Amino acid sequence: MVDHKKKYSQFFTDPALAEYMVKEVLHEGAKTFLDPAVGMGIFTKYAAALTDAEITACEIDPGMAERFREDNRYPVRVITGDYLEQDFPEKFDCIVCNPPYSKFQVIEKRDRYRENFRERYSVNIGGYSNLCVYFLVKSLSELNRRGRCCYIMPYEFLNTGYGREIKEYLLRSKMLVRIIKLNCNIKVFDDAVTTSCILLLENENHDEVEFVTADSVEELTGNSFSNVMKYRYSELEPKRKWLSYFGDAGSSHYDNIVKVSAFGKVSRGIATGANEFFALSLPEIQTRGLSEDACMPCIIKTPDIKQCVITDPLIRELVESNRKMFLFDGTKARTEGDFAYIRYGEEQGYHMRYLTRNRKPWYTIENKAAAPILISVFNRDKIKVVRNEAGIKNLTAFHGLYLKDADEDFTNIFFCYLITPLAQELLHRSRRECGEGLDMFEPGDLTRADMLDLRLISEADREEIRTIYRSIRAGKKPGDIEKLDGLFRRYIK
Ligand SMILES: C[S@@+](CC[C@H](N)C(=O)[O-])C[C@H]1O[C@@H](n2cnc3c(N)ncnc32)[C@H](O)[C@@H]1O
Repeated sequence: MVDHKKKYSQFFTDPALAEYMVKEVLHEGAKTFLDPAVGMGIFTKYAAALTDAEITACEIDPGMAERFREDNRYPVRVITGDYLEQDFPEKFDCIVCNPPYSKFQVIEKRDRYRENFRERYSVNIGGYSNLCVYFLVKSLSELNRRGRCCYIMPYEFLNTGYGREIKEYLLRSKMLVRIIKLNCNIKVFDDAVTTSCILLLENENHDEVEFVTADSVEELTGNSFSNVMKYRYSELEPKRKWLSYFGDAGSSHYDNIVKVSAFGKVSRGIATGANEFFALSLPEIQTRGLSEDACMPCIIKTPDIKQCVITDPLIRELVESNRKMFLFDGTKARTEGDFAYIRYGEEQGYHMRYLTRNRKPWYTIENKAAAPILISVFNRDKIKVVRNEAGIKNLTAFHGLYLKDADEDFTNIFFCYLITPLAQELLHRSRRECGEGLDMFEPGDLTRADMLDLRLISEADREEIRTIYRSIRAGKKPGDIEKLDGLFRRYIK
């Protein structure tokens, strides 16, 4: 009995959720309704009660189909068979489904399905995928123009490797309207505990996707979500873990969380388009006879910065060790050496690079203010955060965090927070995975990331943070970071 239930994935949707889903797909003029995995018919029951659309239902298990036929009191065309192998002559206005959820490796017909889907839907779903993904792809191909589809399924695919193909498919289709993450206190199935989401799709060219979290059935049925994040299709990436697109990003168990945007904005560093030309060391400047005015100090590479506070003596040290620590700004050229260097750049073709050829003149350097806090774009285990006391500019290896209305003291407190494991954990949720343990952030990922509301820190705690900051600045003592972490964590409970 248990095996049979598991084999067909017979878990039944809670009535309140089922009613909500049916209402979400019904729309004016809808004439046809499909449930591809009907079970005992909770969706068809609401569809029949709420509309006079013609209802079709599919069920693979003959015993279940028989039970449905006996219990069902509404006109429903029931097809006993495998939905994935049905060829419907018509398309549908509404499709609602709680698909079977089985690991694809255990499905006997998996090779046949894969082949079929490659051919018919031009989608190559990997071997470690899940049956529900196949259901979804097929249903989307069966929607009439402006037809609506609603699926409830575990949200695992949003974050796993196998989910990538379906995410790519959803982005190509432009049909995804909203993903609702159901928080675990919402009962989804009668007897299965799982973390689920509801997908709402419509056969239209959509520009935006909403990522929303429902904390209660009332929030869901009233469509009054406390947490709504909207993204343009172009902002969504299939390879990213999509759970991070939800505003809460899993940090709902923390109190006093706000977005980094509450305090400021993260922006990329200066892009030159030809670092080989623009980035210079002191000996190179001297050899070429370049003027001081045309060469501004700048951080070129992240590995040059080993310390977590950049001070003037540190910059001097790096300059004296002949690192590339300057940026050539041709618009400030005044000596023969400067002009000769510009001519040299043109001879080498640097003026024809993608970025330089669109600048006037080509050797102009982007005008960006130095950022007080720098965050490394690419990271492995830890996100590199640096306090820029020296006010030095930086290239794109670092993003800059610009705080609004922050004095030096608050900037130091902000920096102390960012280097704690707590802050790193929250920022990490917004990362993009590049593979082999390498993560990266776009500036917007960091601006939208969660963080502790630092306005809540008491004066006594600020005093303690100041003391630790001084210690870190002087070379960091063991235990400094742990002390900071403990201090900030007191505010998130
Ligand atoms: C998760 S249950 C959902 C049942 C019902 N729609 C509900 O929400 O309560 C999935 C149902 O799909 C049926 N099923 C499993 N594989 C199927 C397939 N390939 N084609 C059609 N139905 C299938 C199962 O027997 C089961 O009744």
